[in-house]
Amino acid sequence: MSVSQNNNDQVNVQVDGHWIKVNKGTRMIEACKKAEAEVPHYCYHPKLTSPGNCRMCLVEMGMPPRPNPGQDPELDNEGHAKINWMPRPVIACANTVAEGMGIKTQSTLAQECREGVMEFLLINHPLDCPICDQAGECTLQEYSVEHGKGESRFLEQKVKKPKNVKIGPRIRLDDERCVLCSRCVRFTKEIVDDDVLGFVDRGSHNVLTVHPDKPLANNYSLNTVDICPVGALTSNDFRFQMRVWFMRETNSICTGCARGCNITISSRENKIYRQTPRENNEVNSSWMCDSGRMQYHLLESSGRLTEPMVKKGKSHEVVDWPEALNLAIRGLSKFSGDQIAIIGSARMTNEELYLLKTLSETLNVDIVDVIKVEGEGDEYLSHKDKRPNSNGAKAILNLRSPGSKLNTIKKRIKEGTIKALLVYGENIVRFGFDENLLKGIKFMVSSHIQANPLAKLSNVILPGAGYAEKRGSMINATGRLQLLNKAIEPPGQSRDDWEILQDLNRSLDGKEHVNELADVFSEMADRVKVLKAKTLSSIGKLGIQVVETGEKVPLLEREAQRVKQGLIVG
Ligand code: SF4
Ligand code: FES
Repeated sequence: MSVSQNNNDQVNVQVDGHWIKVNKGTRMIEACKKAEAEVPHYCYHPKLTSPGNCRMCLVEMGMPPRPNPGQDPELDNEGHAKINWMPRPVIACANTVAEGMGIKTQSTLAQECREGVMEFLLINHPLDCPICDQAGECTLQEYSVEHGKGESRFLEQKVKKPKNVKIGPRIRLDDERCVLCSRCVRFTKEIVDDDVLGFVDRGSHNVLTVHPDKPLANNYSLNTVDICPVGALTSNDFRFQMRVWFMRETNSICTGCARGCNITISSRENKIYRQTPRENNEVNSSWMCDSGRMQYHLLESSGRLTEPMVKKGKSHEVVDWPEALNLAIRGLSKFSGDQIAIIGSARMTNEELYLLKTLSETLNVDIVDVIKVEGEGDEYLSHKDKRPNSNGAKAILNLRSPGSKLNTIKKRIKEGTIKALLVYGENIVRFGFDENLLKGIKFMVSSHIQANPLAKLSNVILPGAGYAEKRGSMINATGRLQLLNKAIEPPGQSRDDWEILQDLNRSLDGKEHVNELADVFSEMADRVKVLKAKTLSSIGKLGIQVVETGEKVPLLEREAQRVKQGLIVG
């Protein structure tokens, strides 16, 4: 037994000669990580169960011998009991630490084990790294450099396996590249209850396959591509599009629904190539849905509005920004506050909503609302609220329930009391404001990123920026304030929406307004209770909790349960 001070929940573990304290029950691989000793691994993933099947994480392990009765243990220079090293390796991923345990990750035994495992894995692996999509982020490639033999002793023919197999609408499988780690099998079974993947055949003919009558088509399927440590599973959307080392990564959030999954946007030369989930254990764990992942294609649509336009006669003409803003303000100023309604969007950032509110106050408009859009959610991550910032809209626009004033607006348009509309970020024609109803509107300004029927009816069209083309903050369904970051520039003359709104404010009241987004946030934080004392830079990569909504994330609840049961590390 160690003679060092120990609290009851922790144990002393020696990793590569250094003693550290870790919590009881910690996996050896996690203890090594804490000691900054890298243990290569394929099948281990902290959010999945550990089958211990790849054997890549083999390390040398030892324990202090039990002293004879009446004898004290023999101590080392640091006062810990001396370790007896076992003559065989153990896997670090599925075994837990014990008091006084020693782990060697760099010993000759550990290194020879890794070399052996690598040699077996590479025997039948194709030499196609130059054309493989995983190159640059492939652990087989990395480990073969760091832990491989550097040469092959295999002289026979490599086993041929199925290649380019369509296993679902969004994924292809190359069985020759698969290292049979089973991460994809466990993900589909354990996380999304869609047990469609499995292994068939034996020995070196063992291959991954999909159920003959059921493809891998669930809305989380692309997470298997992220966790596949090699290039066996590739995304139809991303394969052969761009080498990963050329891409710039931007931390942001998905705006497909109110969950606000944390993501990494990968782009090059102002084009997005992929979106992948970024770990946040308070929001989306390590996963995201396929529909959210694909929404970046909307930004590339041919219908993008790229220049400000004003209606002249029956058609629209392109104008410059000063003219468009001027006409918008002149048009709206012809009406009194109660003749105007403002409809915003819960897709807008907090800063944009705040500037919209400022505008409504200067115009004396008291009827301001956002469109509520609900769709299908699921018991994993996808939320039924299909707008990412409903909680931000509630807090900033003082709405009890987003969408509750829309019927009043419709009624007043019908009665002829509302004569002008400012619509920001929503095609309200889709939400009951049909063309017949809108005929009663004398003047309308709208802002969109895509051409749509409402834009066609508007007197002034202001082209805004998409979610990946701007910066700002949002509050998700569970009340977490998170940062949206700019990965690419908006196309053509379209502009960041907070700048458009600030320019409208300037033109309207002729006053000075702050020029930096961080200052808009600070001004807003002084006025909005839930944001008190927060700053844009204090939000950080993982966000901060600002509202208690009482809502739980079903997928996180399940993961927490599995951590408690000791099934996963989490
Ligand atoms: Fe592992 Fe990838 Fe093979 Fe699935 S396809 S078993 S994740 S190597
Ligand atoms: Fe430990 Fe695969 S990572 S056996």
